Amino acid sequence: TSGGSDAMKRRAGESAAEAVTDGDVVGLGTGSTAAHAIRRLGDRVDAGLDVRGVPTSFASRELAVGAGIPCLDLSEAVGLDGPGIDLAIDGADQVATGVNGGGAPDTGGALIKGGGAAHAREKLVDAAADRFLVVADPSKESPRLDRPVPVEVLPSGRTAVAAAVREADGEPTLRRAERKDGPVVTDNGNLVLDCAFGEIADPVALSATLAEVPGVVEHGLFVGMTDEIHVGTESGVRIESV
Ligand code: A5P
Repeated sequence: TSGGSDAMKRRAGESAAEAVTDGDVVGLGTGSTAAHAIRRLGDRVDAGLDVRGVPTSFASRELAVGAGIPCLDLSEAVGLDGPGIDLAIDGADQVATGVNGGGAPDTGGALIKGGGAAHAREKLVDAAADRFLVVADPSKESPRLDRPVPVEVLPSGRTAVAAAVREADGEPTLRRAERKDGPVVTDNGNLVLDCAFGEIADPVALSATLAEVPGVVEHGLFVGMTDEIHVGTESGVRIESV
């Protein structure tokens, strides 16, 4: 969905796939970087690794099934009788590297996700995992989060949510489909507002503000969730613990 070289994305994805061990239940993220992890995991399944995947989208399920990875629904994986999720591997549209100034909490490892409109199920799966590994190339890293925040909304609530976003000094834009006259519809049948807030000084506060708005199904700020970031570079992989 975005820039960065495919070789760097591949190094990141494959590095995270190597962190999976026999018997694991693995959250399978969405996007071109996570796709590299899914393909490598498929190769490891061919070689005898015993894993089950929990896809975060229609696309990641399709890829996982094609790669021979047995899949569980989130509702089967998590719950009283479920095995749980050992780790999740997922991409991001932007990854905060820095410590915030101005008294705001440290948000190193905070993410903006949802460029593929998959962030609602991604957040469910990534949050349920014991460990959350983010896979990225250096073009995703930024000292401050400043990309528009994707907000999935109930279709009937879209203008009410847009008004609330403006009230919070954001500029909402309904995401439109490229090959259809009309909006992008998520895997859950909802719409997406891309909400520009400029530089986000306090992602924790904005996350809480957006979550409180009636009609918001889920927003793309992932705060306090990341455990490791695997950054594919020109020459290898840099692994940051958060
Ligand atoms: C999907 O909604 C997003 O959260 C993706 O994880 C994100 O867009 C990353 O995609 P790429 O790896 O293709 O950049």
